Amino acid sequence: MKICKAENLFYLVNDQVALIMEEKEGRLFLRHFGGPIASYHHANAMHEMDHAFSPNPRSEDRTFSMDTQRQVLGQVGRGDFRKPSIRINHTNNQVTDFRYVDYQVLDGVPQVVGLPSPHAKEGQAQTLKLQLKDTVLDLYLNLYYTLYEGSATLTCFQEVVNQTGETIELATCLSAMLDLPAGAYDVISFQGAYGREKRFQRQALKQGYFEIGSSRGASGHGQTPAIILADRLTQDDAGQAYALQIMYSGNFQAFAQCNQLEEVRLGIGIHPDLLHWRLASGESFSSPVALMTYTFQGLNALSQASQTFILDHIMPPAYSQQLRPILINNWEATYFDFNFDKLTQIVDKAQEVGIELFVLDDGWFGDRQDDQRALGDWVVNESKLGGPLSRLIDYVHDRGMKFGLWIEPEMISQESDLYRQHPDWVIQVPGRSHTYARSQLVLDYANPEVVAYFKELFGDLLSRYAIDYIKWDMNRNITDVGNGTSLSDTLMQPHRHLLGVYDLMAYLTQTFPHVLFESCAGGGGRNDLGVMRYFPQVWVSDNTDAIERLAIQHGHTYLYPTIAMGAHVSAVPNHQMNRTTPLKTRGDVAMTGNLGYELDLCQLSNEELGQVAQQVAFYKTIRPIIQRGQRTRLLDPEHFPNDWACQFSYQDQLIVFYGRVLSTLEKSELTLKLKNLDPHAFYQEQSSGKIYSGAELIYAGLTMVVPRGDFQTSLQHFKKIQ
Ligand code: GLA
Repeated sequence: MKICKAENLFYLVNDQVALIMEEKEGRLFLRHFGGPIASYHHANAMHEMDHAFSPNPRSEDRTFSMDTQRQVLGQVGRGDFRKPSIRINHTNNQVTDFRYVDYQVLDGVPQVVGLPSPHAKEGQAQTLKLQLKDTVLDLYLNLYYTLYEGSATLTCFQEVVNQTGETIELATCLSAMLDLPAGAYDVISFQGAYGREKRFQRQALKQGYFEIGSSRGASGHGQTPAIILADRLTQDDAGQAYALQIMYSGNFQAFAQCNQLEEVRLGIGIHPDLLHWRLASGESFSSPVALMTYTFQGLNALSQASQTFILDHIMPPAYSQQLRPILINNWEATYFDFNFDKLTQIVDKAQEVGIELFVLDDGWFGDRQDDQRALGDWVVNESKLGGPLSRLIDYVHDRGMKFGLWIEPEMISQESDLYRQHPDWVIQVPGRSHTYARSQLVLDYANPEVVAYFKELFGDLLSRYAIDYIKWDMNRNITDVGNGTSLSDTLMQPHRHLLGVYDLMAYLTQTFPHVLFESCAGGGGRNDLGVMRYFPQVWVSDNTDAIERLAIQHGHTYLYPTIAMGAHVSAVPNHQMNRTTPLKTRGDVAMTGNLGYELDLCQLSNEELGQVAQQVAFYKTIRPIIQRGQRTRLLDPEHFPNDWACQFSYQDQLIVFYGRVLSTLEKSELTLKLKNLDPHAFYQEQSSGKIYSGAELIYAGLTMVVPRGDFQTSLQHFKKIQ
């Protein structure tokens, strides 16, 4: 791994990836981002020619235009007509011309103050800092690029430093921008809605823009802050692809722009329409951190590079390999209707079947009989629980299980004591009525008083009670932004609010490192890398239907690790879809994530309970393979919409999951070619005892047989034998 400057070229290169930039008259050009190149000689130089209507900085040289070059940064007003990566409202215009001044190579990963940043062990990462200055104004721009040992992912961010003596306004400050050569590309994104999160979407990129984004104050159910650009022929096992992602949980934009030369600019960052950041002289502003990943070995390799990077450099280190407890959550079992006896009956049954963690969901505090009230009143409802919370916690702990609790720190109900005391703590426009969602309002975490209050309150809760796990929910998006003392103050509120939320997340996770935090936002409404820096697990969807989960879990694991994904077996007919699937199918699908249960175990027959006990026992034997193993897709749902398959490999073991949605007639069973096996070894399937050679599993494939009928799955466990 090396970062160096050779003549005018800056190299960041390891054994996976290279980023090569060139400085010419202070302008920075991107020469290459992709496979590892240690010695570059302009083989891919752009043919310089006079392009009509592409303005030139020098009148005597019509072959050079900012519009046609592959840039390191996109600026406004000097002839580059593509989307900018930096746009600053200053004096009476937006024109900037940042030129290179100096560089530094720093050890490690720079930490962005107040925002989630990656981490690395000593000696694992190095950073190139490029310092630029505007040709006219005392305005500085620092670009940071961090390279990690053995990783196909680099990270970057930019920092603006204002020394102009005047206040300026940042209108665009992307986290990453990549100019890539002309080609036939597809763009991949993850779209959806509540209960239908992270749907894989692949489409051709034509001249024009493809854009995704969120203006919800959260990354949202319908979008994921990530964009993939793949060669049109790239498939799971071959071809090149680039991914940009950001570590940010608020308003964002990601785009692919194909210009008139059919070259592509990719960008990702805080949504420019919603960024109006006032920067006084002497102040600086840093964008969130972005990830840039490259592969030439197909989309499975891209997924694995991203997952590995997240495990090694984003997730709290203590959790990235820590096996997750099998949980039972009472939400779909009882909703708000529970008491001590009901909960302890569930706990007893859970203990009987081998479940390891009991989670008490919404409804344990204040007057929270339904979702219309009491958010903010975080006082244990002892009359509902028939005694102190510690009695229930002791009951659970006495049975050898862990105890978890649901909270929703960012929200407040109008019908609450907290609102009656502090109506001014809500995000609102004074004089206008509120906009409600799930009857609740959003607390203003841009207000330091609010952050301090909840640090103390939840700090006290976690100190006082022996809580092992927290489910941190967030059940609405932000409206009525209006708390600032001036318009420019108000326009800074969404980012400031998020900084306050991150402050609380950082404080609680650092103060209580033994607590496993799971993030939730009505399921996957904030399933992003900003949150994953603090919370190692996420409830990826409120939709617990096994069939819907196939697509949701496929989308989650496309870029994020399996170990970060909660997956529960729930009752049938399913509460969201009204669909009835076999218990085996529900178990198999949930076992391809962090297995949990979310149903009233007391309603199950003895036979069903026996089946649950078997699932739990089986999962315990395969848990390291699923949670620590490498997940590889075996089928592409674009071409096989009725079938889903993936495998997990870990050390000498392998799990193969297959699911068929609807029954088919007079059609041959699918034969799946397994991956990442040793062709010279033999593998034994554990339930049948059958032995196969690695070579036949790779080259001939394994035939998938499931019972007749709809919604059938199989989960096979192989061990390598000598
Ligand atoms: C959200 C969550 C659910 C549950 C409820 C409780 O909808 O996604 O899992 O916790 O809140 O109100």
